[in-house]
Amino acid sequence: MAVNLKGRSFLTLMDFTPEEIRYLLDLSKDLKAKKRAGIEGNALKGKNIVLLFEKTSTRTRCAFEVACVDEGGHVTFLDSNSSQFGKKESVEDSAKVFGRFYDGIEYRGYKQELVESLAKHAGVPVWNGLTDVDHPTQILADLLTIEEHIAKPLNKVKVVFCGDIRNNMSYAWMIGCAKMGMHYVAYGPAKLAEEIDKDFLEKVQAVAKETGATIEISSTPECLKNADVLYTDVWASMGEEAQIPEKVAMLTPYKVTAEMLSATENDDVIFLHCLPAFHDFETAMAKSQMELGYDIREVTDEVFRSRHSKVFDEAENRMHTIKAVIVATIS
Ligand code: CP
Ligand code: NVA
Repeated sequence: MAVNLKGRSFLTLMDFTPEEIRYLLDLSKDLKAKKRAGIEGNALKGKNIVLLFEKTSTRTRCAFEVACVDEGGHVTFLDSNSSQFGKKESVEDSAKVFGRFYDGIEYRGYKQELVESLAKHAGVPVWNGLTDVDHPTQILADLLTIEEHIAKPLNKVKVVFCGDIRNNMSYAWMIGCAKMGMHYVAYGPAKLAEEIDKDFLEKVQAVAKETGATIEISSTPECLKNADVLYTDVWASMGEEAQIPEKVAMLTPYKVTAEMLSATENDDVIFLHCLPAFHDFETAMAKSQMELGYDIREVTDEVFRSRHSKVFDEAENRMHTIKAVIVATIS
């Protein structure tokens, strides 16, 4: 049956079949080719979307804005200080109001339940731009980047996520790999492995069983062997900055280094990172933490700038994949 996602919210890849994810990736490729060829789109002509950001963003916000405008739509951006949302007006009431004005709503913030509640009440598609436990639009961009750089079908690809294996990116990756029949290894300290939600893991393993995916958790470097993708993310996610001392102590052995790339025994291994990344001391945060004695770099500058690193292709793909999500779901 032909895939039709009109009117659907995009809250987590868990809600989508492998065929639907395939459809979004193929649509992303078409839209990227169209943009490269300079062909103007009009799929969102006369449509309005609102972007709600309770956490900061560069890529996700810019991707939604450019994607929408490229297709002829209009965008309103609201951060946590510039609306009544969440402070003077409930999520339910706000969702109902936004649903009267807009054809789609993007939300970035804390609780997954909040984005679900928006979707329940808005009457228009809601897109998850990152919560504490998921980042589904990022995974679409990552899958597209993998398909562009690795000459194997996704179900033959091994991804090793190094570091904070219980964060939103690691969770999102578990879902993405399970859905697409991939091999995922969460490589990080046993203490963090224990913190991974058991019910969530059970659900992911049930999906993996259906698709032939392998979802593993490991604390030993042997798991790096034959990896096609080494992935990492910041050690302290937005809102978790107080954990920096503890995380630096725990995660320094999982910093992505040239030795780690070699340990994959795969000369074509690629390095991916959702960004923003700490790979040098050119940021106020890396600098100030170093002054306090904490080296928060999750990847070396050498790896970040190496031929293996595809992080800026990946960042660009945020826009093409987010465009696909908006175009596919807006009615
Ligand atoms: N990868 C990502 O979501 O980046 P931003 O935080 O800049 O949106
Ligand atoms: N884990 C990171 C991802 C940023 C895109 C965070 O939530 O801050």
